[in-house]
Amino acid sequence: MRRRGFSYGFLLLFLHILRAVTALEKIISKPGDNVTLSCIYPGREFSLDSLRVYWQIADDEDTEPCSVVHALISGQDNESLQCSQFKNRTQLLWDKLGDGNFSLLLFNVRKSDERTYRCVVMQTIEYTRVIHQEQVVLSLAASYSQPILSGPIRNSNNTGEEVTFICRSDNGYPEPNVYWINRTDNTRLSQSGFNITQHPNGTYSVLSTLKVKATSDMQIECFIENKILQENTSANYKSRPTNDSSTGSHKDPAKSGQGAHAAAVVSVVILMAFLTVLICWLRRRRSSQLVSYTAPI
Ligand SMILES: *[C@@H]1O[C@H](CO)[C@@H](O)[C@H](O)[C@H]1NC(C)=O
Ligand SMILES: *[C@@H]1O[C@H](CO)[C@@H](O)[C@H](O)[C@H]1NC(C)=O
Ligand SMILES: *[C@@H]1O[C@H](CO)[C@@H](O)[C@H](O)[C@H]1NC(C)=O
Repeated sequence: MRRRGFSYGFLLLFLHILRAVTALEKIISKPGDNVTLSCIYPGREFSLDSLRVYWQIADDEDTEPCSVVHALISGQDNESLQCSQFKNRTQLLWDKLGDGNFSLLLFNVRKSDERTYRCVVMQTIEYTRVIHQEQVVLSLAASYSQPILSGPIRNSNNTGEEVTFICRSDNGYPEPNVYWINRTDNTRLSQSGFNITQHPNGTYSVLSTLKVKATSDMQIECFIENKILQENTSANYKSRPTNDSSTGSHKDPAKSGQGAHAAAVVSVVILMAFLTVLICWLRRRRSSQLVSYTAPI
């Protein structure tokens, strides 16, 4: 008897944990995309007439002026209950409702949709009761593109030391953190300018500038961090003492053009030097032959 009580309690605890786990389904979507908020109660057939399905905003319920995302009553969408910000943006999967799939399509997601949603499924047989509930957390995120690092650019109004680097990255969400690191001693450098623009689809492009003193050994790296996705993309620049410079993520065509030019000049010089040596040697050989030839006379 005690044992049974114990295992029953254990089962309840297990169900509780399971519920807590399933209650926290998280989905991440790009702004502007369509998402499916999942709510599935499988293994049964339902007659639509007996069902009510409510999708509601589940966080800040008390302060929310309107919380109905979608309502299905007696097999019909009830639009008069729906909050205005969700009008024409939601749809249940009609052909799957009878199989217990109450998932909701939400179109063209935007920042204000970053909420916790709850589906409540009620069935009326003699009396109405809740047969299923589920919660989904929706966050928006998009990866930033591999940054493009330009520079060093000499500042024209400044004859001396200072150079500028520009780090650019596109199509990410939300706003990123930008880090500049001096790789010669791994110190953080602070940006001198930051510009962010939002595209019609909600994603951002960022442009960060860094001004530093030019040195013979510069190693600069810029990081674009997306906190939601826990992602960092980076690009780096390295100047070598030989003046042969390169950047990590992208090549400056002007620089590599200069390199090719220098290589061509060097090979022409070497070739000419070789020819000069050869000609001198041939001449000396010839004159020594002449000498040896004339010697007997
Ligand atoms: C929607 O729900 C409201 C309130 O429950 C009700 O008055 C109205 O008749 C319903 N409309 C439809 C089309 O079912
Ligand atoms: C929803 O769509 C209907 C018909 O296409 C349109 O009349 C209505 O203005 C739209 N509502 C919103 C809020 O976009
Ligand atoms: C991204 O890189 C910066 C600089 O190295 C670091 O401080 C940060 O923790 C990194 N973030 C992630 C998510 O790796």
